[in-house]
Amino acid sequence: MQNTQYRTLDATGLREYLVSHSGMSRRLGGPADTWSVQEVSDGNLNMVWLVHGPDGALCAKQSLPHVRVDPSWKMPTERTFFEAAWLREISQIAGNGIPELLHFDPDLFLLVMQCLDHHTTLNIALSDMTYDPSEAVSAIARFVARTAWSTSCLSETFEENYGVSSVKEDDD
Ligand SMILES: Nc1ncnc2c1ncn2[C@@H]1O[C@H](COP(=O)(O)OP(=O)(O)OP(=O)(O)O)[C@@H](O)[C@H]1O
Ligand SMILES: [Mg+2]
Repeated sequence: MQNTQYRTLDATGLREYLVSHSGMSRRLGGPADTWSVQEVSDGNLNMVWLVHGPDGALCAKQSLPHVRVDPSWKMPTERTFFEAAWLREISQIAGNGIPELLHFDPDLFLLVMQCLDHHTTLNIALSDMTYDPSEAVSAIARFVARTAWSTSCLSETFEENYGVSSVKEDDD
């Protein structure tokens, strides 16, 4: 079915959207005109904003129906749906190794997550030749190993793997 609710957001549209969602407004705090909305998209595909308020911050990401840097190159919008589904699934396993998923809007393909701008993006850190990546490398290796294992059938019990819902007790 055609999604007729979808519209692309700009900074004003995002602010209005957040105002109409009390959980996220409360997280930011204060009146909406005190919030700063900063676009930080730096890749080819998605729009990304950081929103800061007097009490907190969040990061919003919306997929566009085309490549961000080339509107003639059409793309399906569902990519944030899969990103949100992955964040939700993996949060049971990864703890604070991923940003907390705060909200997903399936009509706007808008994903809202914890703002991590107190961290340095790895590609920026790596461009500093004095940075030693060994700690980050082992953290990434542990994260990949734990999430790959925990989402594979290898970590499931025999009963889950073979569809056995209960083991029958012998009557006598
Ligand atoms: N949770 C976050 N907190 C703070 N900044 C973030 C967060 N997520 C992303 N960013 C910033 O936004 C930039 C773009 O985000 P990201 O690379 O995740 O987008 P993307 O979905 O991969 O889109 P594209 O494919 O266009 O790169 C990052 O380089 C980072 O600076
Ligand atoms: Mg990217």
